[in-house]
Amino acid sequence: MSYDFDTVIDRHGTGSLKWDRFGPDVLPLWVADMDFACAPEVLEALHARVDHGIMGYTLPSREAEDAALAYLERQHGYKAEREWLVWMHGMVPGLNIAARAYAESGDEVLTCTPVYPPFLGAPSWQDRVSTTSPLKWDGARWTFDFDDLKNKVTDRTRLFYLCSPHNPVGRVYDQAELRGLGDFCRKHNLVLLSDEIHCDLLLGGIKHTCTATLSPEIEDICVTFMAPSKTYNVPGLACAFATIKDATLRGKFKLAARGLITEINPFGYAGLIACYEKGEPWRQELLAYLKANRDFLYGFIEENLPEIKVRPMEATYLAWLNIEGLKALGIENPHRFFIEHGVGLSPGKDFGDDRYLRLNFGCPRSVLEEALNRMVKAVAAKR
Ligand SMILES: Cc1ncc(COP(=O)(O)O)c(C=O)c1O
Repeated sequence: MSYDFDTVIDRHGTGSLKWDRFGPDVLPLWVADMDFACAPEVLEALHARVDHGIMGYTLPSREAEDAALAYLERQHGYKAEREWLVWMHGMVPGLNIAARAYAESGDEVLTCTPVYPPFLGAPSWQDRVSTTSPLKWDGARWTFDFDDLKNKVTDRTRLFYLCSPHNPVGRVYDQAELRGLGDFCRKHNLVLLSDEIHCDLLLGGIKHTCTATLSPEIEDICVTFMAPSKTYNVPGLACAFATIKDATLRGKFKLAARGLITEINPFGYAGLIACYEKGEPWRQELLAYLKANRDFLYGFIEENLPEIKVRPMEATYLAWLNIEGLKALGIENPHRFFIEHGVGLSPGKDFGDDRYLRLNFGCPRSVLEEALNRMVKAVAAKR
């Protein structure tokens, strides 16, 4: 490997949400932020931006637009146009703005659980209502339950939040599934917001399909969210974008964003350009490292933590652990239990299913091993 993913970088005391939440005795494998330094190519671009010296207000430069559009086409065959772009500080603000843009007070926003917590929170934070349909396990994969979705959609439902690939189950939906969802949204007049932040973190041979590329009809109801933040580990640079083809939908989004989305910081744009234009060799090595971490994690759990069950995952660095088996050992609150034994995971309850914990394996192997050894020791003491 020409890039270094093994070095443990001390993040304590750096204002890290991930590391400073629990204190020095806990290894934090929770929020979706990796413990790897950015690609040197990205750091170089950020240094160059600092060296310019002036940190004034920004506009999205033509270079940033070109980088985003070229990336979409090169990586995903998605031919978007310059005027469809709407820049944002992040997807979470975007989810909230979309709730305001496409639904009135008291209207419903539908999504499939378990899911990234702001999908569940944003509607109510904006005085809208979150409704949910659980993904179903069809024997081989997590997928949409269209019978349940039909029962959940009402005449107040306006918007569907899709997580594709799906955090936290790690599914890369195939075209038939996505087309089915697109047709469902069209039938019920729902705007389809497709959050594709994890689309370049693919761990199997499976290709990601941008929802908007499925058909012109689906593209017309689709609001796509994209960012380099998860893949290239630059979430703190706060730069994301939406592509919205339909002029009415785009206008509504921009109107709802007025005063809430202001200028993106200059490092956000510089980082995005560098990630998309120079980050591919780093990403390829990252994927190899993450795949090896995932395989190690799965093997380790099977061998040493039989009370915990995992199902195949195709994308992201976030493993979804079924911890129901720990109840039999008298571990009533596994989230708290593991924190008390030095490992901070995300509670499944926040994603809509408290039978699970989410584990972030985007870290040096030695950190993952140490965390897993702590978990085994803690559970063994209860057997
Ligand atoms: C599906 C999904 N969307 C959005 C985000 C975060 O978006 P942002 O940092 O751009 O607000 C995450 C972070 O984990 C995520 O998993």
